[in-house]
Amino acid sequence: MKPEVILYKPIPGDLVQRLETHFEIRHHLLAREMPPEFYKDLSRSEGIIGSKLKVDSHLLDQAPNLKIVVNTSVGYDNFDVEELTKRGIMATNTPDVLTDTVADTIFGLLLATARRIPEMHHYVRSGQWNENIGEELYGVDVHHKVLGIIGMGRIGTAVAERAHHGFKMEILYHNRSNSPYAEESLQAQNVSLEKLLQESDFVLVMAPLSDETYKLIGEKEFQLMKKSAIFINGSRGEVVDEKALIYALKSNEILAAGLDVYEKEPIPKESPLLKVKNVVTLPHIGSATSETRYQMFRLGVDNLIKGLNGEIPPTLINPEVLTKKREESN
Ligand code: GLV
Ligand code: GLV
Repeated sequence: MKPEVILYKPIPGDLVQRLETHFEIRHHLLAREMPPEFYKDLSRSEGIIGSKLKVDSHLLDQAPNLKIVVNTSVGYDNFDVEELTKRGIMATNTPDVLTDTVADTIFGLLLATARRIPEMHHYVRSGQWNENIGEELYGVDVHHKVLGIIGMGRIGTAVAERAHHGFKMEILYHNRSNSPYAEESLQAQNVSLEKLLQESDFVLVMAPLSDETYKLIGEKEFQLMKKSAIFINGSRGEVVDEKALIYALKSNEILAAGLDVYEKEPIPKESPLLKVKNVVTLPHIGSATSETRYQMFRLGVDNLIKGLNGEIPPTLINPEVLTKKREESN
């Protein structure tokens, strides 16, 4: 008998076939409440692949045979990694393959917000274009401005490369560890959060969601920003206090915001954020190109196959699990 695994996200057919040569696949779709059949399959499954399913002790209590959980995303805030490690379960994500694609999206969002591209598109399509483009339609420059990046990981660094080389921007960043590469090659400076907020024309959040970054940007942080600041969120909605963001936009504490992520996704139709004028909204599409999504799913499938075949998964989040296993078998 092949091991059972749960697939809870639609992935390309050739990758499903690859999985089928190794595993019995149980197909489910992610839902707010997973149905009883899911938990029945979970009780026998050795692996789970998809993204966003909350994997915590409550779920793990019902998964006694689980050996690996595979996210087809770079973020893994849906995993309780400590609990997984304690139980000797491997966890994997998909870094690197999406870095440049997400950086492109984030830079596009920044440009779209500064130059009001979605609004201008609507303006032309709705037949409002007359002779004069008055100053009420002007945007603000991006080139030569100051970009502040909160969370200088791989994606933050790739955005900084675009900003420095392509747009001659000055880069400030706030990160626990210094990035010698960013400092030497992009002339970036690691500064306090306060200084970054006060001095940046564009404030970009790329820090992953964790206990330390939950609602990191709130009322006080928006007040510290320039009135002309443009705020961009490309990480997770919960890193920002959305109520404080709406207030900051409505009361002109900041100029505009470009968002790919929200506290609740999909964002509810009635959310007050969608009624604020100076906001550009994307439906969490940072990595969503055909090429990159394929690479992410492929890497996820590699992780699952390797992990359940006794090899080291290529992008393992908690390698301590393997050391622990080795000690136990000695
Ligand atoms: C997308 O948000 C990801 O984490 O890959
Ligand atoms: C996060 O891990 C990133 O790649 O920026």
